[in-house]
Amino acid sequence: MTDFILCGGEVIDGSGKPPFRADVTIREGLIAAVGKCESRAGAREIDCTGKVVAPGFIDTHTHDDRALLVNPEMAMKISQGVTTVVTGNCGISLAPFVAKTAPPPPFDLLGEADDFCYPRFADYLAALDSSPPSLNAAPLVGHSTLRLAAMEALDRPASTVELAAMGEGLEEALRAGAFGLSSGLYYPPAACAPPSEIEALARLLARAGALYATHMRDEGKGVLASLDESFAVGRKAKIPVVISHHKLAGRENFGRSTQTLAHFEKAMGAQEIGLDAYPYAASSTILQEDRIGAAEKVLVTWSKSVPEAAGRELSELAREWGISLEAAAQRLKPAGAIYFMMDEADVRRILAFPQTMIGSDGLPFDSHPHPRLWGTFPRVLGHYSREVGLFSLAEAVRRMTSLPAARFGLKGRGSIGPGLFADIAVFDPSSVIDRASFDDPCRPALGIEHVFVGGRPVWSEERPTGERPGRVLRRGR
Ligand code: ZN
Ligand code: CU
Repeated sequence: MTDFILCGGEVIDGSGKPPFRADVTIREGLIAAVGKCESRAGAREIDCTGKVVAPGFIDTHTHDDRALLVNPEMAMKISQGVTTVVTGNCGISLAPFVAKTAPPPPFDLLGEADDFCYPRFADYLAALDSSPPSLNAAPLVGHSTLRLAAMEALDRPASTVELAAMGEGLEEALRAGAFGLSSGLYYPPAACAPPSEIEALARLLARAGALYATHMRDEGKGVLASLDESFAVGRKAKIPVVISHHKLAGRENFGRSTQTLAHFEKAMGAQEIGLDAYPYAASSTILQEDRIGAAEKVLVTWSKSVPEAAGRELSELAREWGISLEAAAQRLKPAGAIYFMMDEADVRRILAFPQTMIGSDGLPFDSHPHPRLWGTFPRVLGHYSREVGLFSLAEAVRRMTSLPAARFGLKGRGSIGPGLFADIAVFDPSSVIDRASFDDPCRPALGIEHVFVGGRPVWSEERPTGERPGRVLRRGR
């Protein structure tokens, strides 16, 4: 294995403390030294003058379960300096489930019937082990997936027998190394699950020392009640809770992040709570008629029945077809969409909250995806830190590295220091910026110079190196 010496850069070590000048030596996949390094025979020196050397970023909220297998280069993430993705969010994980017919939305964000082919969570992890991607994966198991595997019909609470089967699925996933359970109580496959169903599963999480992440039932009018429901799961089972992609949806809720963040602060005094956010005032998921009303504008990201509609505005299509927005949505479905329905001031307030981690929520298979897929991390660094001044660069890096590593229990990652894994992002602090936009969503960011995963270079000279040193991370190991 070639050793590397990253010479003369400004180290931002992930802790939040200011940058300091140091050389970083990479040996055998680990950071061997931080300080003044002598050049050594056989080691490749990389001049990092004027650049920042930071821990690789942790994308705390992804739907990359299948992308890791079919697109192992993962250019959309390593191009941003991301070295670990947390998968299986919003209640939908690729495993454990074998589909006979096409699973209902939002499972179509992950794949089609044939893609759901892992009877056990361990089978999915084994598939990743045998065909590793460029970066690391920290998997969650989805509550909706467990429902799909255990229940005949999803429009009701689970019976005692079904709940026991879900519990077995969860325990198998935890034994295999899952970091916790995710839920998507907002979505139809889980909307009929009562809090007691989650609370029963949470007790199994407690025994394993795992966490609970949730796309809450309501991110609009009922957001405070949904926060209370989520916090109660953690409080009762004594486990950490992560509130996914925290936002306030719909004009009538604009400004209410002052309420929700105060609510977070109060609860955080008594229990372990985390949250993540993406740096945009528009959300993206499947196309649903009930979401259209709350949005100022709706952009189609993919459509099974009208593929050429991807990238176009729903209102434009409705006008062309001479029908209502709802009827146009009907015609497009199954489909995905971007919803412009947040307040920029809320986005900034949530990002600036000290406990907020960064999670892209990128949707890797959309034909015209939300730009968060390619832009999230450079946008926080370049736009929200450098241009807007929401926080220092060291603080931006902390929210992408040590904070999520501690929250998810990713041992030896998220910091720069001797003996830690050499997951590293080298970037130019004066030029780093996202270029992906709502019109042109797949443009790689600028200013991410070198990315290392486990000491191997995966991104350099604005392209993937083709190396695939990524590992499946397993809880407690
Ligand atoms: Zn979600
Ligand atoms: Cu999500």
